[in-house]
Amino acid sequence: MMSKLEHTIALLQRIAREFSPATLASSLGAEDMVLTDLIARHAPGITIFSLDTGRLNPETYDLLAKVQETYGSKVKLEIYYPQADVIQFFVEKNGINAFYNSLEMRKNCCGIRKVEPLGRALQGKKGWITGMRRSQSEDRANLAFEELDAEHGLGKFNPLADWSEKEVWEYIRGNNVPYNELHDKHYPSIGCAPCTRSIAMGEDIRAGRWWWENETAKECGLHVKI
Ligand code: ADX
Ligand code: SF4
Repeated sequence: MMSKLEHTIALLQRIAREFSPATLASSLGAEDMVLTDLIARHAPGITIFSLDTGRLNPETYDLLAKVQETYGSKVKLEIYYPQADVIQFFVEKNGINAFYNSLEMRKNCCGIRKVEPLGRALQGKKGWITGMRRSQSEDRANLAFEELDAEHGLGKFNPLADWSEKEVWEYIRGNNVPYNELHDKHYPSIGCAPCTRSIAMGEDIRAGRWWWENETAKECGLHVKI
């Protein structure tokens, strides 16, 4: 029987063959680093992109530089930025930290800084890949390896859907994959600095994201279900 790792590699290679051009969305979190390493080794035709919201942690920018250093031309990493004039208008009108004021402001901020740039990153692509796993949250418990992203009109793949957190870290340690220093500071999930905090032992993996909001609101709009 195929191991989980072999299954993941086979899926990445099929995506490269059948869904080209395909691209990995990387938040520079642990899962995305596993996929970056696997793509560099086994499916170099797949490109990688990161959405730089302008509010990422310094550790995340350090890792971005390290990825470029470590993998060089083996991976094609593109960074997408929000539209400067839209950010300027929003911040002048609402303040630099408006996302703490209301759910609406928070969703607007994610819309401008993540969702709109995501649309540009996916333009012209046939498939995109995420690092989401089933055990990350109840919401992701039934995550499929392969789905149709009707919103953007392309294939969406979650090759690590069945991996545990332990398996992710075994791969990272076993293959010397660079990782975000925030993980050593008890951040399991990497997002924007003002909207992500560390978690305590026993807390839910996603408890550090938009911690002031209630559970059902925690959705940034990158992974909409319709
Ligand atoms: S989120 O919906 O709350 O942002 P999470 O942080 O768990 O989700 O990330 C899930 C997946 O979304 C990541 O594995 C990655 O594929 C994608 N993603 C999240 N943030 C970014 C980002 N800034 N740039 C690119 N992809 C991202
Ligand atoms: Fe804005 Fe916070 Fe969303 Fe980042 S996570 S885009 S700072 S609201």
